[in-house]
Amino acid sequence: MDLAVLAQRLAEAGQSHLLQFWDQLSPEEKEDLYSELESMDFTEINGFFENAMMTFTQGHQENVDARMEPVPREILGSVTRDVESLKDWEEEGLHCISQNKVAVLLLAGGQGTRLGVPYPKGMYDLGLPSHKTLFQIQAERILKLEQLAEKHHKAKCCIPWYIMTSGRTMDTTKEFFSKHKYFGLKDENVIFFQQGMLPAMDFNGKIILEGKGKLSMAPDGNGGLYRSLGAHRIVEDMERRGTAYIYVYCVDNILVKVADPTFIGFCVRKGADCGAKVVEKTNPTEAVGVVCKVDGRYQVVEYSEITLATAEKRSPDGRLLFNASNVANHFFTLPFLKDIVNVHEPQLRHHVARKKIPHVDTRGNLIEPDKPNGIKMEKFVFDIFQFAKKFVVYEVLREDEFSPLKNADSQDGKDNPTTARHALMSLHHRWILNAGGHFIDENGTRMPAIPRHGPAGTLTPGSQNLKDGTDLPIKCEISPLVSYGGEGLEEIVKVHPEFHPTLVIDERGIHEQVSNGL
Ligand code: UD1
Repeated sequence: MDLAVLAQRLAEAGQSHLLQFWDQLSPEEKEDLYSELESMDFTEINGFFENAMMTFTQGHQENVDARMEPVPREILGSVTRDVESLKDWEEEGLHCISQNKVAVLLLAGGQGTRLGVPYPKGMYDLGLPSHKTLFQIQAERILKLEQLAEKHHKAKCCIPWYIMTSGRTMDTTKEFFSKHKYFGLKDENVIFFQQGMLPAMDFNGKIILEGKGKLSMAPDGNGGLYRSLGAHRIVEDMERRGTAYIYVYCVDNILVKVADPTFIGFCVRKGADCGAKVVEKTNPTEAVGVVCKVDGRYQVVEYSEITLATAEKRSPDGRLLFNASNVANHFFTLPFLKDIVNVHEPQLRHHVARKKIPHVDTRGNLIEPDKPNGIKMEKFVFDIFQFAKKFVVYEVLREDEFSPLKNADSQDGKDNPTTARHALMSLHHRWILNAGGHFIDENGTRMPAIPRHGPAGTLTPGSQNLKDGTDLPIKCEISPLVSYGGEGLEEIVKVHPEFHPTLVIDERGIHEQVSNGL
């Protein structure tokens, strides 16, 4: 331990305060703090701070809103408007998968602060009849897709699954997968790697201490992906496996079509190097980013970066002008990703989030501030759209593909375990109806296909009714191992057309349990 050298480096970087409690630390605390500080590049961190603050202030002055343009129609594919092409795109996607050309990359380094659980969000039990977690659902969708591609193209294939974690989530995530035997996937095809962390800084660029010997550290945003891909030589691993296309997504969407063959096929057929999936934004205050053009370049403007006046703007047809909600599903070709990692990554600037950051005062007492006292710096995964040579956008239906888990359950809450669970069960209910089946209640009466709306607090036949009058879906869950996107259910329904809720269809068969509770 060469404290003098470290102290000198800190002094040069204007960060000497980080050693102010040194004499009060235990030998272990000294060792931890020393090794953390020793590995940090303060010149780089100070540079990040300056650039981030500059972009932040400029962004506000120049007013991003005034420079935003909606996504032009010619780069847009749509699940509703391009019905005649969907089969083709799906075929293309399945063919790519069958040739081992598709890899999946999951961004799972977030801290799930809003959900408020002390473990990674992917491990959350959503309260489905099966009690599956987000990780299990996603693993099973990958498995099923491999099977579908194999069946279509008579070739054994594999979709490697790269999982980005952070210092906070790595060990727990790995242990969880190992405990669950990788949910049926081969462990060598599930590749974990860790993103970087950055210190929180006060508004003067001083790194914040959250304890006498502990820096306040946080993951460097989901755009930390590109730096960590380089650091862990992941692109090389992809090349070795023959990957040509990468499907990147966020952990929290219960409906996510992992490695969606139609989206991949659409991007491939359009010759795109980068693509984004969106759903129509209908509520101006929804917490989603919107895909748009700023100064002629594609980007996502986050909900925190747009003014209400702009978010509320409408087109002549009455729809929101900026209505391409980013659902955080992206497509990249490998050469594009490689270019980002090797060339463009250093050009990406951190976004600034002003936060209330717990810190110690000069006497070492912990202070929980009641107003923002500093910033966290994050890069965003979509900040690379600007480098695409051919960028495309694919619009899908919210009720089929987007129901994120962001918050804990609360009354009238949004994007929480209840809304996620209901979205999945409602989708699976529709799959059964589309396959020709129907549900009957405990008296043998057929339940209405479209749940009826009754007055608030009442029960209507075939569905239950929440306090606010919204209907609860029929309890119905279909394992991804049985169906990836609603396919293959006709055979089951042909021999078994009537179902009682609670219904679970999984690889072991059909399970019905007459119950009203949810
Ligand atoms: C994200 C999108 C937003 C989109 C919304 C849809 C970003 C920056 N924003 O917003 O445009 O409309 O999802 O639900 O993508 N993560 C990391 N490392 C980090 C931080 C986050 O891997 O350092 C991961 C999380 O584990 C999660 C994903 O990134 O899987 C999204 O993070 P979250 O903070 O939930 O993003 P949102 O603000 O909801």
